[in-house]
Amino acid sequence: MAKVNGGKARSNGRQWRTPKVSRGLATVAALLLIGLVGVLAVGHFLSPAPQQASLGQATLGSLGGPFTLTDQTGRTVTDADFRGRYMLIYFGYIYCPDVCPLSLQRNFEALQILGAKAEMIQPVLVTIDPERDTVEKMRDYVAAFDPRLIGLTGTPEQVKAAAAAFRVYYAKVQSENGAAEGYLVDHSAFTYLMAPDGTFVQFFRHDTTPEAMAERLNKIL
Ligand code: NI
Repeated sequence: MAKVNGGKARSNGRQWRTPKVSRGLATVAALLLIGLVGVLAVGHFLSPAPQQASLGQATLGSLGGPFTLTDQTGRTVTDADFRGRYMLIYFGYIYCPDVCPLSLQRNFEALQILGAKAEMIQPVLVTIDPERDTVEKMRDYVAAFDPRLIGLTGTPEQVKAAAAAFRVYYAKVQSENGAAEGYLVDHSAFTYLMAPDGTFVQFFRHDTTPEAMAERLNKIL
């Protein structure tokens, strides 16, 4: 009995202290969240500043270019295979924990809003993590995400050339737990709209809403 009472007494004592502890934990959690958002923002270059600083209008106009990659069915494709339709192209990777799936999701929401006009657009994902994003992984990912998506991978050299054509920055970052497979990839997170003739039309930032994106696409199509 004494033990039970003692337990209750301690329990009451804890209850008095709980609010302070909670506030402390909440503050720590908030700081961690701010730090995490900061890391993600840096990791994905959500602001166009790093790229645009060195991208004049002339450079923007020359975005895109020849590439040779492999689609999710194992077929070799080049930029020429996408002529005749608009192409909505995003560079990212399957293991991306947050920004890539959100960007792709946003793109498809915009296409949903566009309705029938969306058929004029071919959504494309190019991996910047070719070591892990194999043809097989890409096939599963595309099937699960949206069968309209074309997922492209290739040799590290092919991916490097494609990313360079679109001025896409990417770099592996070792995650803190140090697992060999546990790396993340820093990368710019823009979606590019290319015209049916393969020329650059415009890009969409990560934070553009589906509605705003659909509105801009609707004016172009
Ligand atoms: Ni990503």
